[in-house]
Amino acid sequence: MKARYTALRGTRDLLPDDVVAWQFVERIVREHFPRYGFREIRTPVIESTELFARSVGESTDIVHKEMYAFRRGEESICLRPENTASVARALVEHSIHRGIASGYPERLYYVGPMFRYERPQRGRQRQFHQIGAEVFGAPEPAADAETLEMLWAFLDAVGLRNRELVLSSLGDPEDRERFRESLTAWLAPRIATMCEDCRRRATDNPLRVFDCKVEDDVRTLEDAPEITAFLGEPAREHFDAVRGALDEYGIPYRIDPRMVRGLDYYRRTVFEVVTGDLGAQNAILGGGRYDGLVQDLGGPEVPGFGFAIGMERLISLIPEGRVPEDRADVAVVALGADGFAAAAGIARGLRTAGYRVLVPLCERPLGAQMKRADRARARFALFVGKDELARGRFGWKDLATGEQIEVDLDEAVRRLQEPGA
Ligand code: HAM
Repeated sequence: MKARYTALRGTRDLLPDDVVAWQFVERIVREHFPRYGFREIRTPVIESTELFARSVGESTDIVHKEMYAFRRGEESICLRPENTASVARALVEHSIHRGIASGYPERLYYVGPMFRYERPQRGRQRQFHQIGAEVFGAPEPAADAETLEMLWAFLDAVGLRNRELVLSSLGDPEDRERFRESLTAWLAPRIATMCEDCRRRATDNPLRVFDCKVEDDVRTLEDAPEITAFLGEPAREHFDAVRGALDEYGIPYRIDPRMVRGLDYYRRTVFEVVTGDLGAQNAILGGGRYDGLVQDLGGPEVPGFGFAIGMERLISLIPEGRVPEDRADVAVVALGADGFAAAAGIARGLRTAGYRVLVPLCERPLGAQMKRADRARARFALFVGKDELARGRFGWKDLATGEQIEVDLDEAVRRLQEPGA
């Protein structure tokens, strides 16, 4: 028996019918993000494993459990689990930060695959895709607010209705330190009954206990101290300014002081957009401020703010009828040997004029050609036979209404150009 290969667990083929929605979303990204000054960056899919250990954090689930890492020669390489660290690396490596001027940060966006060895379930894959945006060199709350405003307008353009922005602040490092001490003291009498992962986290990085998904632990943690009670004055002011700007833009949000992000590099603002339509994996996107990251990666003091959207999750939420249909413009229907001989030339002319044309590569019966036209959702059929060629006039059928007239080729092109054609 021949071997039957299938895509690996947690990975997915995107077939032509699926890709239509992906291209729709990517088109909106490429139109919308540059309006806010974002330019695209493309970094490699493989990076040094150390990059993510340093930035995302050794004790996070992403680095601790989910990395696709392997050795090649002396190097430990991994498939990127996220892209913020890669973009920050590129910023430092190419000295992009030198071009940053006060009030004019560097704004970068990306679209591409990420890899995490997680247990696959609805909305969770091992290879998934993100649309991300990162703003470097803007410490101001206005950067958070403007980027969130861009994001909100983007979600509108995609047609996402049922969504909620959830916001919190993780404070500055010294606030985090005070919170860590308080949390450690709170955990001390409870940790013995918590899961093995939590016990490890309690010593490595106590804030990560909030990553826990074990039900009993989640219940226990409901009474834990909240980070927002530990914010110092600068972080508090920043948070208030972001909230004020969101109110001004009319962007609704809910504060969740328990929100944990699965990555260690955040400071101050953190957020997610969640929906009730996704099941357990309810986050469409996540992001926040990461002012220390560039420096941690050996660069200068360049603040950062950004987000990444899970594309699979986003695309699964696009309302029916929102994605424009992928269809052929014209099916050239060849009638008899003469028609078939001329069809390719006519198709070539229409294609040169910019239209999507379907034409058979060998003689096919009329019925079969009409069936293909229907499958390609062609808008019009152009009938080419001996008589038509002699007269220079061809049958032209609107396949939606069934209406049929005669046209010459110039008129066919004119009709294709008509709005709504
Ligand atoms: P993240 O929260 O780890 O953040 O991922 C962002 C989004 O990617 C999630 O909200 C989710 O929609 C999607 N996602 C994550 N893991 C999976 C998975 N296994 N399967 C399907 N979708 C998934 C980051 O990655 C940060 N780099 C975001 C960021 C950018 N922060 C600042 N700048």
